[in-house]
Amino acid sequence: MRVLGIETSCDETGLAIYCTERGLLGHALHSQISMHQAYGGVVPELASRDHLLRLIPLFEKLLADCQLNRNAIDAVAYTAGPGLIGALLTGAAFARAFAFALDLPAIGVHHLEGHLLAPLLEPDPPKPPFVALLVSGGHSMLIDVKAIGSYQLLGDTLDDAAGEAFDKTAQLLGLGYPGGPALSALAQTGESGRFKFSRPMTDRPGLDFSFSGLKTQVLLAAKRCAKEKGLGENTAGLDIALKAALARAFEEAISDTLAIKCERALLETSHQRLVVAGGVSANTRLRARLTAMTQKLGAAIHFPRPLFCTDNGAMIALAGALRLQNAPLDSLRSSYKIDATPRWDIASLPALVSSTPERPAYL
Ligand code: KG4
Ligand code: ZN
Repeated sequence: MRVLGIETSCDETGLAIYCTERGLLGHALHSQISMHQAYGGVVPELASRDHLLRLIPLFEKLLADCQLNRNAIDAVAYTAGPGLIGALLTGAAFARAFAFALDLPAIGVHHLEGHLLAPLLEPDPPKPPFVALLVSGGHSMLIDVKAIGSYQLLGDTLDDAAGEAFDKTAQLLGLGYPGGPALSALAQTGESGRFKFSRPMTDRPGLDFSFSGLKTQVLLAAKRCAKEKGLGENTAGLDIALKAALARAFEEAISDTLAIKCERALLETSHQRLVVAGGVSANTRLRARLTAMTQKLGAAIHFPRPLFCTDNGAMIALAGALRLQNAPLDSLRSSYKIDATPRWDIASLPALVSSTPERPAYL
């Protein structure tokens, strides 16, 4: 079965074709980052309009890259939530219309399940049970994955998500949007030990996260430095070496905090495997820190390739294919119903009966 996957939940238009026999056949992506940069964040209405402009040309490019025509598609999977409702509706409407026209089954996919399953697109895909760390712009979650499709929440963010903390900290250092990659690049050159921030909520039991205080610690340190240098409140005007040292200390604090909680989750569940996904899992320091922690425990670790850490169509095509293999396909055919929901609890997803791709997902 060849499944067309469509992702439009935020500021990336992603399409891909995943074949249940041969793996990923191809993918196409358009990022709207340059369009939103002028506003310092995603403007939902602009995001929706841009998805509408990109969907058909990207689909045609994908078919050409895969040397397939549209009749080769057997089913359609689209991100149905959580996300920006207008943006979600563009992909959902495109998917449903295409499926209706070709009399194909179409299924709405949970965006976070897509992220969580992205490591299955790599060689040596992880087998459950495992602990999943999902760190994106809107979520920081630890999940007990006993089987693919059954997700039990172990820990959640109480305020800012990890990606949000990266973005807000980058903004106060004047690094623009999106902040994660820019802050991370700057942190590489930062002096170690010049600043030290706390590892929030690691001094008590539990697996929840809170990163808004960390961002405030960076702000206060930056303000203190700005004052000392006669810049008043202008933290964006600090010199680059100082910003780099602040960025490094922030990145070390967030990576350490995530690693401490992941170690706790592995020990509490007795699982021998950690899966890390979502935009922040592209972060090099976090990957190194988590890899060292799992090596110490003798556990395995899996990440998606950096391109599939952030939003993409391949993860939606794969998650959709696994759900479609477990679904009554006729009831998903020729439906007028367009599913799209801004909020959707991942723990409410129904378990899958068969969940292991028959062949390696990597091509
Ligand atoms: O998963 P994603 O593409 O979108 C959501 O579903 O939210 O994640 C985007 C988030 C942004 O906050 C971005 O700053 C962060 O992931 N991010 C990074 C890196 N690359 C993306 N954060 C830290 N280091 C990176 N290299
Ligand atoms: Zn995402």
